Amino acid sequence: MTATEGIFIDPQNKVRGEITVPGDKSISHRAALFGGMAQGDTHITNFLPGQDCLSTLACLQKLGVTWERHETEVWLQGQGVDNWVEPQDVLDVGNSGTTFRLLSGVLAGSPFASTLTGDESIRKRPMKRVTGPLMQMGARVLGRQDGNFAPLTIRGGNLAGRSFTTSVASAQVKSAILLAGLRANGETIVREPALSRDHTERMLRGFGVEVWSEGTQAKVIGGAQLKARDVSVPGDISSAAFFLVLGSLAKEGELLIREVGVNPTRTGILEVLQKMGADIQLENISEICGEPRADLRVKPSDLQGIEIGGDIIPRLIDEVPVIAVAACLAKGETVIRDASELRVKESDRIKTVVEGLKALGADIEELPDGMRIMGKPKLLGGRAQSHNDHRLAMAWAIAGLLSENGVSLEGIEAALVSFPGFFPLIEQVTRVL
Ligand code: S3P
Repeated sequence: MTATEGIFIDPQNKVRGEITVPGDKSISHRAALFGGMAQGDTHITNFLPGQDCLSTLACLQKLGVTWERHETEVWLQGQGVDNWVEPQDVLDVGNSGTTFRLLSGVLAGSPFASTLTGDESIRKRPMKRVTGPLMQMGARVLGRQDGNFAPLTIRGGNLAGRSFTTSVASAQVKSAILLAGLRANGETIVREPALSRDHTERMLRGFGVEVWSEGTQAKVIGGAQLKARDVSVPGDISSAAFFLVLGSLAKEGELLIREVGVNPTRTGILEVLQKMGADIQLENISEICGEPRADLRVKPSDLQGIEIGGDIIPRLIDEVPVIAVAACLAKGETVIRDASELRVKESDRIKTVVEGLKALGADIEELPDGMRIMGKPKLLGGRAQSHNDHRLAMAWAIAGLLSENGVSLEGIEAALVSFPGFFPLIEQVTRVL
């Protein structure tokens, strides 16, 4: 166990600034992984140098992929996935579920043994949703509870394409199956209960692979080879979310967040905040490398509680902790439902969010698949704990800025997983006016 770091967040409800947030985590993982699978040189710009994406790069190195990184630029020299080598050591994904699940999909097609593991949180997260389909395609997987918990050993090769209907809308599951499908005989189809983020489908097309998708269904045909290409990563809307909530609930000022990814499978946060009454404008909309991006301008406004549930949930799943902070300060009741997936994230985010906000003075109640929140004019503040969950560390910081007495926050180093530079950036935008 490493020592945890603490900070006191003073109340501060004026904001101003033009900022960028680090590169999108989901897109950075995929750019590194696909660059490592491709033939030829891939140059990634605005790569997220967060711990999760660095775990993906470290695992690729153990599989024989050569790359160089300088800050947010990565150069990969891909030899093709068929030239990956049996790793001589365990592949450690740290805290990164995306690394674990996407890499499992690729390794299901590799004719050698590899063992994947990760931190305490990863070793508790359900993997059968991925290893089950991979085993049905022909991969051998060994691990606790019939391949549900890391450490897991995968011996791949000789896969047969299949058709799957998943019970959860998960881009990690969908992507793992599609990536295995690229190395299987015949067609592989995934149908989801609702559409999850589609960065894999978009980026595979960019790497020259044919991917058919319609509604909640996607299909690949085995044998396709990835061709290297350059990738420019947009800012992460999940990281921008903290500043969207801060900018909406501040009393004074304005924030402009430049070049944020606005892929429609990720913009649930914009729709929810706008429905609550937030003043958020999209400017300079463009599309680069198959992914839309825009500048987001946010100004203070009064928020109203709303009901959030159904197909929008996968489109905002990582933003629920900070949406809950917004709901605590909105007028009236907010109910979040259909979000039981939160229980198997980096922490049980229904429990940790409800307990964390209650400790800061919120009127909030746990539901089996979400939470019910009655807004108040102010949160008192108090003590908060990240539970080693990056999104909680940052949500509690926003709660602290918007509180009456401030928040004493433990475990801030967790933010490094997805947002290096988060704390200096909040200091920058609140160093006021
Ligand atoms: C991700 C998918 C989501 C999300 C995670 C990143 C991805 O997880 O919560 O932060 O990059 O594919 P699930 O696929 O498990 O819902």
